[in-house]
Amino acid sequence: MSNTQRVAVVTGANKGIGFAIVRALCKQLDNGIVYLTARNEERGREAVARLNQEGLQPKFHQLDVTDRASVSKLRDFLQKTHGGLDVLVNNAAVYYKEVAVTVRDGVMEWELFNDASHPPFGEKASITMATNFHAVLDVNRALIPLIRAHGRIVSVVSSGGVWAFQKMSKELQGRFQGAKTEQEVEQLMHEFVALAKAGSHAREGWPEMVYGISKMGVIALTRIQADDIAKDKTKGEVLITCCCPGYVATDMTNHEGEKTIDEGAVTPVYCALLPPGSSQFNGKMFSEKKLLEFW
Ligand SMILES: NC(=O)c1ccc[n+]([C@@H]2O[C@H](COP(=O)([O-])OP(=O)(O)OC[C@H]3O[C@@H](n4cnc5c(N)ncnc54)[C@H](OP(=O)(O)O)[C@@H]3O)[C@@H](O)[C@H]2O)c1
Repeated sequence: MSNTQRVAVVTGANKGIGFAIVRALCKQLDNGIVYLTARNEERGREAVARLNQEGLQPKFHQLDVTDRASVSKLRDFLQKTHGGLDVLVNNAAVYYKEVAVTVRDGVMEWELFNDASHPPFGEKASITMATNFHAVLDVNRALIPLIRAHGRIVSVVSSGGVWAFQKMSKELQGRFQGAKTEQEVEQLMHEFVALAKAGSHAREGWPEMVYGISKMGVIALTRIQADDIAKDKTKGEVLITCCCPGYVATDMTNHEGEKTIDEGAVTPVYCALLPPGSSQFNGKMFSEKKLLEFW
């Protein structure tokens, strides 16, 4: 296989925004090979077949982002087959509905929402953090070494992360802002889950929003990993960014979102295809193809 082809991987892409990101990358990534990955092989291959019917040719690889053996298998496969990777979109996530969202003048507003059928808060925190934060860290740690010059890594986050940041104590805000290493952010996430299990998170300044905190963790991680990669002289202008896709009609939102999945894919794909000479965007968060700066 020629190494001049650009290789892209999208996580959690059998449906929703991830599926639409694969569709858009198949159309827009010059000389590209796009891997639609999914934890469930059958659902993943069905998704590939749907895109085949549209005349698009993504490839499939199994990836459960919470399973380190699965992540290692993908890494080894990419190394052996393509000798590297050019685009990674961390899209896979889980969400227990915990806020009601309204959109006014294009701005998402959040209100806490309690669903008594959900597992206890501490359990929700642990499950959500495993997929939405720790798995992003694991996937990035495994795949960043493969990223080639001008590579792009994008994590799909949420304005829920911004909301969680605004609702947490000033002390916690300061710790997120001051974090300089991956381990410091990991520590914040571990602390939150332990407090959530003990029922004392609110007393310690954490908001009641597991999903938002998990996404805030990824926003903080993005900045740190971006700083680290900028210092790595073996990498040529690799950019690590994150973005909010907007409020999108998917299973995650019970199809209440106002955007189609293709509209939701626009900003993640914009970040994934930032042209050479975009180093000012390293570590930044985007929304609607524009920088979103809130701290
Ligand atoms: N929809 C919105 O309005 C909205 C707003 C802000 C941010 N986002 C973010 O956008 C991204 C996509 O969300 P969506 O709305 O498209 O959600 P979705 O329709 O629920 O799709 C989520 C995808 O993630 C996959 N996934 C979950 N756990 C996984 C794991 N352990 N390994 C691999 N894949 C896994 C799911 O696979 P299965 O089918 O196997 O479950 C599914 O393919 C997420 O990061 C979400 O937080 C969405």
